[in-house]
Amino acid sequence: MNRLAELQEWRQAEHGPGTEADGNPAPGPEGRAAEMAGGPAGHPPAPPPGNDGLRAPPAEEPFYLPTFDETDLFEHCHHNGLAVMLKGPTGCGKTRFVEHMAWRLRRPLVTVSCHDDLSASDLIGRYLIRHDSVQWQDGPLTTAVRMGAICYLDEIVEARQDTIVVLHSLTDHRRTLTIDKTGEVLEAAPGFQMVISYNPGYQRMMKDLKPSTRQRFVALDFDFPTPEREAGIVVHEGGIGRADADALVALATKLRGFQDRGLAEAPSTRLLVATAQLMKRGIGIKRACQVALVSPLSDDTSLLGAMNDLLDATFV
Ligand SMILES: Nc1ncnc2c1ncn2[C@@H]1O[C@H](COP(=O)(O)OP(=O)(O)OP(=O)(O)O)[C@@H](O)[C@H]1O
Ligand SMILES: [Mg+2]
Repeated sequence: MNRLAELQEWRQAEHGPGTEADGNPAPGPEGRAAEMAGGPAGHPPAPPPGNDGLRAPPAEEPFYLPTFDETDLFEHCHHNGLAVMLKGPTGCGKTRFVEHMAWRLRRPLVTVSCHDDLSASDLIGRYLIRHDSVQWQDGPLTTAVRMGAICYLDEIVEARQDTIVVLHSLTDHRRTLTIDKTGEVLEAAPGFQMVISYNPGYQRMMKDLKPSTRQRFVALDFDFPTPEREAGIVVHEGGIGRADADALVALATKLRGFQDRGLAEAPSTRLLVATAQLMKRGIGIKRACQVALVSPLSDDTSLLGAMNDLLDATFV
């Protein structure tokens, strides 16, 4: 069975005809509460991930702690077919959020990491020579359009303009994808949603999105959570106690102040989770902070020295 048939079978088993997945209204609060409590109960086993970036929603809820009204906004966008851009620093939860929303909305998820070699054909598809025949192979974007999946293009600003432009007809009222090579014009299946993300903090003078691209998206601005919430995430993801998590977050808050002294990127929630995971394995808090929280941040010896001084003053 090919990937599309496999996922279509999953979709049929999961939703049956004429359910939310086919564009009908979202379940009421009770349905949502049941969903949030137990996840998609009775979910058939998800097909294994392939190399096309396509995944059925996981049966288990991916842990995600909201930091503003992003889950509500995303749901409204989804039900209106609006494309969404997630902006925010590295390691602040953008990818986890998309995984969580795919689970919550019960949509398959197609993820593509963008880079400057990514071509329109990489996204749309190409003819492949197999033995003595030529076969069309859908790219990840086409698969998502056919499936009604959430298509997540990570680090979109890394892609070239001529690649990004293929998204335009999918992210306005047309919701279509033109495949020049096969002559097809595909209408996006119900449930299809385009999501892009990038980190506006990097130096990207030459790599900004064009206004005609930007203005096709609803923008959700991500940042690090409040200390209270961030500590909750560190406890959950790192498996350490609350007091240790509070201490790590307090240190990270001070380290984030080093951005005023030339630190390019603030220490992320991801680094805090990694630090906590080392502590959970028995590494002392100071040593764990040295290798997992401070050292990855920079190669600048004077900055590193100042941050390690702070570490020495915080933990004996
Ligand atoms: N709000 C959150 N809820 C749950 N976990 C979170 C949250 N924010 C961050 N995390 C934790 O931080 C880790 C990094 O998050 P994630 O990979 O989603 O970052 P990102 O914003 O996609 O980063 P990048 O831009 O580098 O891809 C996650 O694996 C998770 O452990
Ligand atoms: Mg990410």
